[in-house]
Amino acid sequence: MSRVEMSDADWRIQHLPALSEVAADALKLMAAGDVPLGKLENLVNRDQALVLRILRIANSPFYGLSRRVATIHDAIVLLGLETVRGVIAAAAVMHIFPDQPESGMNRSRFWTHSVQVAAAGKLIAEECGFDAGIAFCAGLLHDVGRLVMEFCFPENYARVAAACDAGEMQITTAELSHFAFDHGQMGGRVASGWHLPDSIHLAIAAHHCPAADHPNPIVDVIHAGDILSHGLGTFPEDLTLVPGLDAEVWRRLDLGESLLAQLLPRIDKLSRGMQLL
Ligand SMILES: [Fe+2]
Ligand SMILES: [Fe+2]
Repeated sequence: MSRVEMSDADWRIQHLPALSEVAADALKLMAAGDVPLGKLENLVNRDQALVLRILRIANSPFYGLSRRVATIHDAIVLLGLETVRGVIAAAAVMHIFPDQPESGMNRSRFWTHSVQVAAAGKLIAEECGFDAGIAFCAGLLHDVGRLVMEFCFPENYARVAAACDAGEMQITTAELSHFAFDHGQMGGRVASGWHLPDSIHLAIAAHHCPAADHPNPIVDVIHAGDILSHGLGTFPEDLTLVPGLDAEVWRRLDLGESLLAQLLPRIDKLSRGMQLL
């Protein structure tokens, strides 16, 4: 089976499932800035499935709100517009890729990891004084490029999944032995059409290669959160396939080893039993 080139992928990604029309319009409206809140509420309320998913995320323990979020209006008031933008993005994107059994990718495991990175992102961002609401959404979506690659090339991606499941190599190494790109590059390419908040888009594209010259706090947080998720050891092979931690990110976050030791059980507790799908 030949290596997949970006030109092959560019053709396939034109046929990806689309975001719901309401979600796409809402993200576009919010990206333009100065959103009339009534207009946004009316728009989102046209898609009740999307509303339910947004409320499920907003009411999850991740946001730790003392009162129940019952409407989109509540979500905007309690979480703020930028966080709601991230929640709409997460709620919309998480559902558009149907399961591809032939790819061998374990979806339950994929979402467990994504939720762990979301939890890690939120907790690290809080410690560092960054936007924890956006970090949480970035964690949920950080590996969406894997879903894109799986959807477009299930047979090729089955080889990647098999190499990872066998504990033979880290995911990006396995991807680059079958594709001319990894899931960060693919995720960034596809997400550029979704009008996501910039930091979420960057986290999807750069969480395995956080830029040293243009550091972004949410990319740093998700890069570290990704590694901490592997460190939890929820899946046995995770412990041998932990991606490398960028030393500059480590220096910028300045978390300290004792804080890090405290974070692991907190991430584990926050992410356990979370039902967001
Ligand atoms: Fe990743
Ligand atoms: Fe990841």
